Amino acid sequence: MNIGVLVSGRGTNLQSIIDASENGRIKSKVVVVISNKKDAYALERARMHNIPGYFISSKNKSPEEYDAELIKILENYNVDFVVLAGYLKILTNMFIEKYYDKIINIHPALLPSFGGKGYYGEHVHEAVLKAGCKVSGCTVHFVRPEIDHGPIIIQKCVEVLDNDNAETLAERILPYEHESLIEAIKIIEEKNYMIDGMRVKILRWNN
Ligand code: GRF
Repeated sequence: MNIGVLVSGRGTNLQSIIDASENGRIKSKVVVVISNKKDAYALERARMHNIPGYFISSKNKSPEEYDAELIKILENYNVDFVVLAGYLKILTNMFIEKYYDKIINIHPALLPSFGGKGYYGEHVHEAVLKAGCKVSGCTVHFVRPEIDHGPIIIQKCVEVLDNDNAETLAERILPYEHESLIEAIKIIEEKNYMIDGMRVKILRWNN
């Protein structure tokens, strides 16, 4: 697959995809990286691997105009699969329809808990701690119009420790995010799955 990665921040999840592609763990390639934040370090990571990187400004643009620009770039690079790797802008229904079942998102909690509007970055982990959860983790899912919602491909659990704060919990979950994204991409590029409503059936476990 030709993957387009949408980012807003430091891009460790992007890095994990680039590494897996370069070392042959996945066959897909990151062909373009697009950020809605000008200073996202993820763009620098793309540059270091000779991957074209774009910043699209939201200034004076409707969400539809913004996503139309996004699509134009993705089409220029023949992107057939989109990964949201810490992308904090909400996609329009138009975009989601266009790439239906071809967009995945990584979320740093066990969805459907602790997802949706406002649950991003440290807010997710703060909410998990406040609720007294004994486990948290991460979720990779296909993207549907509702935020942080869609058929779940992979989830991994991480224990919440009594002395955790949002930062320590985020830090322990992050490596599981990196691994989950790669496992999900592998499952998808090998067509090793079937979507049945909200359930993604993995046909053979061979990661
Ligand atoms: C990750 O925790 C991701 O799940 C969340 O934002 C963070 C992005 O990290 N949506 P990075 O930019 O990939 O390092």
